[in-house]
Amino acid sequence: MGQVIAQIAAQAGSLVRLFDVHADATGKAGNALAAQWDKLVDKGRLDRLLAVGHKARLRPAATLEDLADCALVIEAVVERLDVKKSLFFHWRVLFRRKPCWPAITSSLSITAIGAGLKHPGRVAGYHFFNPVPLMKVVEVIAGLKTDATTCIGLTEYARQMGHTPVQAMDTPSFIVNHAGRAAAAPSV
Ligand SMILES: NC(=O)c1ccc[n+]([C@@H]2O[C@H](COP(=O)([O-])OP(=O)(O)OC[C@H]3O[C@@H](n4cnc5c(N)ncnc54)[C@H](O)[C@@H]3O)[C@@H](O)[C@H]2O)c1
Repeated sequence: MGQVIAQIAAQAGSLVRLFDVHADATGKAGNALAAQWDKLVDKGRLDRLLAVGHKARLRPAATLEDLADCALVIEAVVERLDVKKSLFFHWRVLFRRKPCWPAITSSLSITAIGAGLKHPGRVAGYHFFNPVPLMKVVEVIAGLKTDATTCIGLTEYARQMGHTPVQAMDTPSFIVNHAGRAAAAPSV
C-alpha cells in the first residue's frame, strides 16, 4: 500500500520520501515503480519525460529524521493499533513543519490512533481501495478530535492525486466496507 501511494503521489508531482523499518523495502518499492513506468513508456502509454520526472521525485529515506521537512506524512504500516499508535507517538517529536498525519487503515479507529497524542487534530485516515491507481475513491476519515483543516487538506491532496475523496465518519468499517458487508448479508 505504501508503494502504490508513493506512486500516485509522485505522479501528482509531489517529492516523495519513502521510509520503512526494513531498509531494503524502499529500494525494492522504488525499483518496482521505475520498472512499471518504463513498461508504460515502452507500450506508448506514458511520455518518456513524464516517467523521468516521476522517478526523480521518488527517493528512499534512510531514517525517520530524513522526513522532518515533509508537509504531509502518510503512514501505511501493518494494520495494528499498537504499532500505529507507537509510530505516531514517536513521530510527534520529529516533524518541524507540523504536518498532517493520515493513517492508512481499512478498519482501525482514527480516534483511537490519535488518543494520547499532543496534536490529535492533525491525525486523520485515508482508506484507499485496491488496485489504488484504478479505484479512484478514497475515504477521508475524521476522528473525534481531527481538525477540520486536516480533513480539508487531505481532501484537496486526494484530488491532486487524481482520486475522488469522500468524507467518512470514524465508525466501524467507515462507508464502503460497511455498506458492502450489509449488502452481502443473506436475505431470509
Ligand atoms: N493491502 C490492501 O489491500 C489494503 C487496502 C486498504 C488499506 N490497507 C491498509 O494499509 C496498511 C498497510 O497495509 P499493507 O497491505 O501495505 O501492509 P504490508 O504488511 O504489506 O506493509 C507494511 C509495511 O510497513 C512496514 N513497517 C512495519 N512497521 C513499521 C514501522 N514502525 N515503521 C516503518 N515501517 C514499518 C513493514 O516493513 C512493511 O513494509 C494497513 O493499515 C492496511 O490495513 C491495505
